[in-house]
Amino acid sequence: MNGNLNANGLLLKAIASEWQGKHSADVVICPPFPYLAHTANLLSGSEIMTGAQTVSEYEKGAYTGEVSALMLADLDCKFVIIGHNERRRMQRESDREIAEKFVQCQSAGLIPILCVGESTEDRDNGLYLQTIGRQLNAVFDLVDRSVFCNAVVAYEPVWAVGTGKTATPCQAEEVHRFIRKQLGEIGQEVRILYGGSVKAHNAKDLFALADIDGALLGGASLDADEFLAICKAAE
Ligand code: PGA
Repeated sequence: MNGNLNANGLLLKAIASEWQGKHSADVVICPPFPYLAHTANLLSGSEIMTGAQTVSEYEKGAYTGEVSALMLADLDCKFVIIGHNERRRMQRESDREIAEKFVQCQSAGLIPILCVGESTEDRDNGLYLQTIGRQLNAVFDLVDRSVFCNAVVAYEPVWAVGTGKTATPCQAEEVHRFIRKQLGEIGQEVRILYGGSVKAHNAKDLFALADIDGALLGGASLDADEFLAICKAAE
Protein backbone atom coordinates (compact mmCIF):
# COMPACT_ATOMS: atom_id res chain seq x y z
CA MET A 1 0.00 0.00 0.00
CA ASN A 2 2.65 2.41 -1.17
CA GLY A 3 2.70 5.04 -3.88
CA ASN A 4 0.24 7.29 -5.66
CA LEU A 5 -0.65 7.98 -9.28
CA ASN A 6 2.11 10.50 -9.83
CA ALA A 7 4.88 8.64 -8.01
CA ASN A 8 3.90 5.31 -9.61
CA GLY A 9 3.92 6.90 -13.06
CA LEU A 10 7.47 8.18 -12.55
CA LEU A 11 8.64 4.85 -11.15
CA LEU A 12 7.10 2.82 -13.96
CA LYS A 13 8.46 5.10 -16.66
CA ALA A 14 11.95 4.93 -15.17
CA ILE A 15 11.79 1.12 -15.06
CA ALA A 16 10.21 0.65 -18.49
CA SER A 17 12.63 3.01 -20.23
CA GLU A 18 15.61 1.02 -18.92
CA TRP A 19 14.12 -2.45 -19.42
CA GLN A 20 13.73 -2.36 -23.16
CA GLY A 21 14.24 -5.01 -25.82
CA LYS A 22 14.67 -8.71 -25.15
CA HIS A 23 15.62 -10.01 -21.72
CA SER A 24 16.06 -13.49 -20.36
CA ALA A 25 14.46 -12.57 -17.02
CA ASP A 26 10.69 -12.08 -16.78
CA VAL A 27 9.58 -9.01 -14.86
CA VAL A 28 6.12 -8.56 -13.35
CA ILE A 29 4.90 -5.48 -11.49
CA CYS A 30 2.02 -5.93 -9.07
CA PRO A 31 0.56 -2.55 -8.02
CA PRO A 32 -2.41 -2.02 -5.68
CA PHE A 33 -5.79 -2.57 -7.38
CA PRO A 34 -6.64 1.08 -8.16
CA TYR A 35 -3.45 1.45 -10.21
CA LEU A 36 -3.69 -1.76 -12.24
CA ALA A 37 -5.15 -0.24 -15.39
CA HIS A 38 -2.74 2.71 -15.20
CA THR A 39 0.20 0.32 -14.78
CA ALA A 40 -0.89 -1.97 -17.62
CA ASN A 41 -1.30 1.11 -19.79
CA LEU A 42 2.14 2.51 -19.02
CA LEU A 43 3.76 -0.88 -19.53
CA SER A 44 1.98 -1.74 -22.78
CA GLY A 45 4.58 -2.18 -25.48
CA SER A 46 7.19 -3.19 -22.92
CA GLU A 47 8.18 -6.73 -21.94
CA ILE A 48 7.11 -6.09 -18.34
CA MET A 49 3.91 -7.80 -17.26
CA THR A 50 1.29 -6.77 -14.72
CA GLY A 51 -0.03 -8.64 -11.71
CA ALA A 52 -2.31 -8.03 -8.73
CA GLN A 53 -1.55 -8.38 -5.01
CA THR A 54 -4.54 -10.53 -4.08
CA VAL A 55 -7.90 -11.78 -5.44
CA SER A 56 -11.23 -13.03 -4.13
CA GLU A 57 -11.70 -16.71 -3.42
CA TYR A 58 -15.16 -16.47 -5.02
CA GLU A 59 -15.99 -16.43 -8.71
CA LYS A 60 -18.64 -13.65 -8.56
CA GLY A 61 -21.58 -12.41 -6.56
CA ALA A 62 -22.45 -10.23 -3.59
CA TYR A 63 -18.98 -9.87 -2.03
CA THR A 64 -18.74 -6.09 -1.67
CA GLY A 65 -15.20 -4.81 -1.80
CA GLU A 66 -13.78 -7.95 -3.36
CA VAL A 67 -12.15 -8.26 -6.79
CA SER A 68 -12.58 -11.46 -8.80
CA ALA A 69 -10.03 -13.29 -10.92
CA LEU A 70 -12.22 -12.73 -13.99
CA MET A 71 -12.16 -8.96 -13.37
CA LEU A 72 -8.36 -9.04 -13.19
CA ALA A 73 -8.15 -11.09 -16.37
CA ASP A 74 -10.30 -8.39 -18.00
CA LEU A 75 -7.64 -5.79 -17.10
CA ASP A 76 -4.68 -7.35 -18.86
CA CYS A 77 -3.44 -8.70 -15.58
CA LYS A 78 -1.51 -11.97 -15.94
CA PHE A 79 -0.33 -12.79 -12.44
CA VAL A 80 -1.77 -12.62 -8.92
CA ILE A 81 0.16 -12.82 -5.67
CA ILE A 82 -1.80 -15.00 -3.27
CA GLY A 83 -1.18 -15.91 0.33
CA HIS A 84 1.32 -13.12 1.00
CA ASN A 85 2.20 -13.38 4.67
CA GLU A 86 0.78 -9.92 5.39
CA ARG A 87 -2.60 -11.17 4.17
CA ARG A 88 -2.27 -14.47 6.00
CA ARG A 89 -1.49 -12.60 9.23
CA MET A 90 -3.38 -9.31 9.03
CA GLN A 91 -6.43 -10.38 7.04
CA ARG A 92 -6.38 -13.81 8.65
CA GLU A 93 -6.55 -15.59 5.31
CA SER A 94 -6.57 -19.33 5.93
CA ASP A 95 -4.69 -21.99 3.98
CA ARG A 96 -8.05 -23.13 2.60
CA GLU A 97 -9.07 -19.63 1.40
CA ILE A 98 -5.71 -19.20 -0.27
CA ALA A 99 -6.15 -22.57 -1.98
CA GLU A 100 -9.55 -21.38 -3.22
CA LYS A 101 -7.95 -18.21 -4.58
CA PHE A 102 -5.45 -20.42 -6.38
CA VAL A 103 -8.34 -22.27 -8.03
CA GLN A 104 -10.01 -19.00 -9.07
CA CYS A 105 -6.77 -17.81 -10.70
CA GLN A 106 -6.41 -21.06 -12.59
CA SER A 107 -9.98 -20.99 -13.88
CA ALA A 108 -9.61 -17.39 -15.06
CA GLY A 109 -6.32 -18.12 -16.84
CA LEU A 110 -4.22 -16.08 -14.41
CA ILE A 111 -0.90 -17.28 -13.03
CA PRO A 112 -0.96 -17.46 -9.23
CA ILE A 113 2.21 -16.58 -7.34
CA LEU A 114 1.61 -18.67 -4.24
CA CYS A 115 3.49 -17.36 -1.20
CA VAL A 116 4.48 -19.73 1.55
CA GLY A 117 6.75 -19.20 4.51
CA GLU A 118 7.22 -19.77 8.19
CA SER A 119 7.04 -17.46 11.21
CA THR A 120 10.01 -16.71 13.47
CA GLU A 121 8.69 -19.22 16.04
CA ASP A 122 8.43 -21.99 13.44
CA ARG A 123 11.97 -21.26 12.31
CA ASP A 124 13.28 -21.21 15.88
CA ASN A 125 11.47 -24.43 16.76
CA GLY A 126 12.64 -26.22 13.65
CA LEU A 127 9.05 -26.49 12.37
CA TYR A 128 9.53 -24.48 9.19
CA LEU A 129 9.26 -27.35 6.71
CA GLN A 130 6.08 -28.60 8.39
CA THR A 131 4.48 -25.17 8.04
CA ILE A 132 5.43 -24.86 4.39
CA GLY A 133 4.30 -28.42 3.73
CA ARG A 134 0.92 -27.63 5.31
CA GLN A 135 0.52 -24.45 3.22
CA LEU A 136 1.30 -26.39 0.02
CA ASN A 137 -0.89 -29.35 0.94
CA ALA A 138 -3.92 -27.07 1.30
CA VAL A 139 -3.54 -26.28 -2.42
CA PHE A 140 -2.75 -29.89 -3.39
CA ASP A 141 -6.06 -30.84 -1.71
CA LEU A 142 -7.92 -28.82 -4.35
CA VAL A 143 -5.80 -29.14 -7.48
CA ASP A 144 -3.52 -31.68 -9.05
CA ARG A 145 0.18 -30.85 -8.76
CA SER A 146 0.36 -30.74 -12.57
CA VAL A 147 -1.45 -27.36 -12.62
CA PHE A 148 1.66 -25.83 -11.08
CA CYS A 149 3.10 -25.75 -14.60
CA ASN A 150 1.05 -22.52 -14.77
CA ALA A 151 1.89 -21.24 -11.32
CA VAL A 152 4.81 -19.74 -9.43
CA VAL A 153 5.72 -20.42 -5.81
CA ALA A 154 7.39 -17.78 -3.64
CA TYR A 155 9.18 -18.74 -0.44
CA GLU A 156 8.88 -15.80 1.92
CA PRO A 157 10.00 -16.43 5.49
CA VAL A 158 7.91 -14.05 7.62
CA TRP A 159 10.98 -13.05 9.65
CA ALA A 160 12.73 -11.85 6.49
CA VAL A 161 9.96 -9.80 4.87
CA GLY A 162 10.45 -6.07 5.33
CA THR A 163 12.91 -6.64 8.17
CA GLY A 164 16.23 -6.25 6.40
CA LYS A 165 17.08 -9.81 7.54
CA THR A 166 17.56 -12.04 4.50
CA ALA A 167 17.56 -15.82 4.71
CA THR A 168 21.07 -17.05 4.07
CA PRO A 169 21.50 -18.65 0.65
CA CYS A 170 21.81 -21.97 2.47
CA GLN A 171 18.52 -21.52 4.41
CA ALA A 172 16.68 -20.42 1.27
CA GLU A 173 18.11 -23.22 -0.86
CA GLU A 174 17.03 -25.87 1.68
CA VAL A 175 13.42 -24.69 1.59
CA HIS A 176 13.36 -24.27 -2.18
CA ARG A 177 14.60 -27.81 -2.62
CA PHE A 178 11.91 -28.99 -0.20
CA ILE A 179 9.18 -27.14 -2.15
CA ARG A 180 10.39 -28.65 -5.43
CA LYS A 181 10.25 -32.10 -3.89
CA GLN A 182 6.69 -31.54 -2.63
CA LEU A 183 5.68 -30.60 -6.17
CA GLY A 184 6.61 -34.10 -7.31
CA GLU A 185 7.18 -34.87 -10.98
CA ILE A 186 6.58 -31.32 -12.10
CA GLY A 187 8.90 -29.85 -9.47
CA GLN A 188 11.82 -29.13 -11.79
CA GLU A 189 9.62 -27.07 -14.12
CA VAL A 190 8.09 -24.77 -11.52
CA ARG A 191 9.60 -21.35 -10.87
CA ILE A 192 10.30 -20.86 -7.20
CA LEU A 193 11.08 -17.31 -6.09
CA TYR A 194 12.65 -16.15 -2.88
CA GLY A 195 11.25 -13.07 -1.11
CA GLY A 196 12.38 -11.31 2.05
CA SER A 197 14.67 -8.29 2.04
CA VAL A 198 16.12 -9.00 -1.41
CA LYS A 199 18.24 -6.01 -2.44
CA ALA A 200 20.74 -5.30 -5.18
CA HIS A 201 23.63 -6.23 -2.86
CA ASN A 202 22.38 -9.76 -2.02
CA ALA A 203 20.43 -10.72 -5.17
CA LYS A 204 23.36 -12.22 -7.09
CA ASP A 205 24.26 -14.66 -4.30
CA LEU A 206 20.66 -15.83 -4.02
CA PHE A 207 20.19 -16.19 -7.79
CA ALA A 208 23.39 -18.20 -8.03
CA LEU A 209 21.69 -21.10 -6.25
CA ALA A 210 20.27 -23.90 -8.35
CA ASP A 211 16.78 -23.88 -6.84
CA ILE A 212 16.24 -20.11 -6.64
CA ASP A 213 14.66 -18.94 -9.88
CA GLY A 214 14.00 -15.31 -9.05
CA ALA A 215 12.75 -12.94 -6.38
CA LEU A 216 9.56 -11.42 -5.04
CA LEU A 217 10.45 -7.86 -4.08
CA GLY A 218 8.77 -5.55 -1.61
CA GLY A 219 10.79 -2.52 -0.51
CA ALA A 220 13.28 -2.79 -3.39
CA SER A 221 10.45 -2.32 -5.90
CA LEU A 222 9.91 1.26 -4.71
CA ASP A 223 13.24 2.39 -6.10
CA ALA A 224 13.80 2.12 -9.87
CA ASP A 225 17.59 1.76 -9.68
CA GLU A 226 17.46 -0.89 -6.96
CA PHE A 227 14.68 -2.76 -8.76
CA LEU A 228 16.50 -2.71 -12.11
CA ALA A 229 19.77 -3.82 -10.54
CA ILE A 230 17.98 -6.89 -9.15
CA CYS A 231 16.29 -7.61 -12.49
CA LYS A 232 19.70 -7.46 -14.17
CA ALA A 233 21.18 -9.78 -11.54
CA ALA A 234 18.51 -12.33 -12.50
CA GLU A 235 19.66 -12.49 -16.12
P1 PGA B 1 10.69 -7.00 1.24
O1 PGA B 1 9.18 -7.52 1.01
O2 PGA B 1 11.43 -7.23 -0.05
O3 PGA B 1 10.52 -5.54 1.56
O4 PGA B 1 11.23 -7.79 2.36
C1 PGA B 1 8.92 -8.71 0.36
C2 PGA B 1 7.45 -8.86 0.15
O5 PGA B 1 6.66 -8.01 0.64
O6 PGA B 1 7.03 -9.81 -0.50
